[in-house]
Amino acid sequence: MTPQEIALVRSQFALTRGMEAAFAGAFYARLFQIAPGLRPMFPHDLSEQGQKLMKVMAFATGALDRPEVLAPTCRQLGARHVAYGVTAAEFAPVGAALLDTLATALGPGFTPQARAAWEAALTALAGLMAEGMTAAAA
Ligand code: HEM
Repeated sequence: MTPQEIALVRSQFALTRGMEAAFAGAFYARLFQIAPGLRPMFPHDLSEQGQKLMKVMAFATGALDRPEVLAPTCRQLGARHVAYGVTAAEFAPVGAALLDTLATALGPGFTPQARAAWEAALTALAGLMAEGMTAAAA
């Protein structure tokens, strides 16, 4: 990712501050609209799950320019996802739901450049998590 893309992702994620619960709620609602089959994998009450997701997103967006910090945490997160029954194919609906939620939350601020920057960030994150999943499954 370029420094400009990282800065864009960070400034946009900062806009979700104070609305974490609403953002996470909208994300899971969108995810289960796109991929209803994933719902049973998650706990009934998603509030704690949503808080954890937003914390990891805050950490990851903050560490995009520090691969030595980002990579081990994302690989460990990926490894835990093997135990949750997650497969690499499921990153596509999760990424799509996140992009849709950002688009709704940010409105016109979610420019084509912003979308491209988020796509790059989510691809990097999913790639690192997939490495951890492969290592854990081996
Ligand atoms: C951007 C990629 C993702 C991020 C940042 C993320 C983040 C998280 C976090 C922070 C947790 C809390 C538990 C922990 O830290 O181990 C979690 C749990 C979980 N995630 Fe993800 N996740 C991602 C992708 C996925 C995908 C693709 C799926 C597939 C459906 C998924 C399904 C789950 C499930 C089922 C749990 C456990 C729920 C439970 O039983 O408590 N995640 N995720």
